[in-house]
Amino acid sequence: MDLMQAIESRRDTRHFTDEAVPKAVLDKALMAALHGPSVGLSQPCRFLDVSDSPRAALIENFTSQRSKAETALDEPDRLRLHRSLKLESLAEAPILLATFCAYPEEEYTIGVIGNMRAVEWSCACAIQNLWLSLTADGYGAGWVTILDLKAIAARLKTPENWEPMGILCIGKPATDYEGRPMLEHLGWKNRELNLDAFYSVAHLS
Ligand SMILES: Cc1cc2nc3c(=O)[nH]c(=O)nc-3n(C[C@H](O)[C@H](O)[C@H](O)COP(=O)(O)O)c2cc1C
Repeated sequence: MDLMQAIESRRDTRHFTDEAVPKAVLDKALMAALHGPSVGLSQPCRFLDVSDSPRAALIENFTSQRSKAETALDEPDRLRLHRSLKLESLAEAPILLATFCAYPEEEYTIGVIGNMRAVEWSCACAIQNLWLSLTADGYGAGWVTILDLKAIAARLKTPENWEPMGILCIGKPATDYEGRPMLEHLGWKNRELNLDAFYSVAHLS
């Protein structure tokens, strides 16, 4: 698979087979994450493998956050459609990685003065690398953030400077949603692939 094929076929996967993920595939994906760009070479992404922990509390956490989110949906058809969407695979995914952004504790990190958010952006770069590596190897991931993330951090007793970034559900995809984002495939929202909507020339005044 070439790079563009991996980029285009990467999906946020919420449906997995029960096939195990070989350690070599996971290790390669984690190494891909380590190769990501990071502000001041901070390499802030941390992954805690919680696959073998009891999952009931995570599922409960998700269900409660999802219900809260649904109070924002007034339109009955949209609410019905939203309720039908599977937005996680916390119970079934063979691997669950609780993912964190470790804010640098060193005295000085290049690039973060006045903009600590760059550290979290660096985590997103790492996660994308991991996602693409899994895709290239025939596996997939789903990034779940509809969670009370602070509650997860508290249960894991992570250091104060670790900001929770969600749970990555990893496994062998059971579907490719016909080559489209699942949300588009199921009629929730259409993806925009018109470059003009994202790119234009501008002049600084
Ligand atoms: C930071 C981030 C958080 C996300 N959180 C969730 C989530 O909690 N549940 C979910 O079903 N999808 C989540 N997604 C997946 C997006 O819905 C998905 O990337 C988007 O619909 C495009 O689909 P694709 O990734 O298959 O191209 C998240 C994606 C990102 C980048």
